[in-house]
Amino acid sequence: MLLNRNKITLKKYRYLKSRSEILGMISDYERAFLQFYTLKIYSGAGEIVDLGTWLGSSTFVLAKGLSENQKVSNKNKRIFAYDLFKWENSLNHHVVNTEYENIFEQGDDYKWLFFKMTKQYEPHIETKGNVLNEGWLDKPIEFLFNDAMKNIETTHQILKTFYPYLMPQKSMLVYQDFDHYLTPWVHLLIFRFRKYFKHIHDIPISGGTVFKLMKELPIDYIHTDVTLIDEIEAEQAYKYCLKLACDQKKPNIAAAHVMYYYYHDKLDKAQQVFSLYQSKFNMVNSDLMEVKQLLYPNND
Ligand SMILES: C[S@@+](CC[C@H](N)C(=O)[O-])C[C@H]1O[C@@H](n2cnc3c(N)ncnc32)[C@H](O)[C@@H]1O
Repeated sequence: MLLNRNKITLKKYRYLKSRSEILGMISDYERAFLQFYTLKIYSGAGEIVDLGTWLGSSTFVLAKGLSENQKVSNKNKRIFAYDLFKWENSLNHHVVNTEYENIFEQGDDYKWLFFKMTKQYEPHIETKGNVLNEGWLDKPIEFLFNDAMKNIETTHQILKTFYPYLMPQKSMLVYQDFDHYLTPWVHLLIFRFRKYFKHIHDIPISGGTVFKLMKELPIDYIHTDVTLIDEIEAEQAYKYCLKLACDQKKPNIAAAHVMYYYYHDKLDKAQQVFSLYQSKFNMVNSDLMEVKQLLYPNND
């Protein structure tokens, strides 16, 4: 199926939406998209990289789609799943009322659970560790699911390690943290790279949004230092990302905009930007509530 070359719509993959077989943080639509990608779009010309797999929810659906892909014959170890595999107590709420509640403590290794969860598709999966020291093979990457840009050091490392291997006119890149307030550098990168990556789909009811690499990314882009992106460019970046996003994601992108100033220790400016968004968006259940708490810790 030629998917109108660059256009992906929910209609094409909605039928794959199901309840997750594996405990995970990505949404049902996001999992359906990942499965659809490896089932219908993936050609096998490059590898599949899953950055930040946690217990394997993203890896599982990527592997499930690949296992049924009719076009690709070599399916052996085509999915590279990276994670720290060190338990973070801040993630405890994701396992409440499950059989995994209270079994891990801060720093515990949970790789065994990842292996257990993804056992069915083990032949398709290569398990890797921390992107800061694991590196990458000298192989093209056809699909990059990016759920590990959690801090600036890792973000810079991901750019240098994986982006040079993306294939122009072929590779897709998903930023899972597109609608998250704690990773405001993701929006800066999306804007900085806009002439090279075409936005092809915003996955509804999820954090993720999808791009396709159109032409080779110059080396100086790969070495972008997100801390040096100035306010003029940042303002354009959040405006640009708000336009790309579906309505459900906009309040969280607005919250990331506020965080850009908060992280730069510009509290007045952060409060000013926040007050503009406060009147524009419904903040309930959005990251704007988290941001409000940071900006005004003494208010109820
Ligand atoms: C939000 S969770 C991922 C959720 C997962 N994709 C899912 O489908 O449920 C982010 C993950 O990124 C991982 N991570 C953070 N920094 C990393 C790094 N430097 N290298 C590899 N993984 C990293 C964490 O260990 C964590 O499991």
